[in-house]
Amino acid sequence: MHLLASLLSLLSIHSLVHAQNSSNTNGVGSSPADRHYVTAAQAQKIISASAANASAIPIPQNIAVVDPSGLLVAFLRQDNAFPGSMDISMKKARTAVLFNGLSSGGLYEQAQPGQPLYGIEETNGGLVVFGGGFPIYLDGFLIGGVGVSGGSVSQDEQVATAGVLSLGAATSLT
Ligand SMILES: *[C@@H]1O[C@H](CO)[C@@H](O)[C@H](O)[C@H]1NC(C)=O
Ligand SMILES: *[C@@H]1O[C@H](CO)[C@@H](O)[C@H](O)[C@H]1NC(C)=O
Repeated sequence: MHLLASLLSLLSIHSLVHAQNSSNTNGVGSSPADRHYVTAAQAQKIISASAANASAIPIPQNIAVVDPSGLLVAFLRQDNAFPGSMDISMKKARTAVLFNGLSSGGLYEQAQPGQPLYGIEETNGGLVVFGGGFPIYLDGFLIGGVGVSGGSVSQDEQVATAGVLSLGAATSLT
């Protein structure tokens, strides 16, 4: 019975692999660049540039890069960066794409008690409404987001910006 279950699961993986297109897109049919999604190589470049910028301050940072849906593409926790800031960096990056390119800090004023968006950080499984998360715009397309956490808000913003600029990309449309 156990053997049969193992065989069946092997068979289903086998047919899954065969259902995929034989081109190198693993069944998707286009590359991330075709879809205006940040590529793994671009995400690594952002991480490297942000990490270099953080090391120059110096402040150890958590650096997250997500695709336009908010899913993680690359992440680095620099040595001795706050473990508690890993989650914050990822949520800053997600926040920056889930509202079509509003920076995480762009929500801050409206999220204060008594303001119209009070409590918004409780939505979407958790957002972060202070600075350090920016959208990544390349050639006018929102290709992803970067979030940095571990320093002061202004240090986080500087480090995130350095990563985006290293791609020849921008943190806003204008
Ligand atoms: C698989 O990819 C090739 C090359 O992009 C394309 O010509 C072909 O139509 C695709 N086949 C299917 C079944 O999608
Ligand atoms: C870090 O990034 C900021 C923002 O892009 C930039 O102004 C600063 O010059 C960078 N620092 C270094 C050492 O590259």
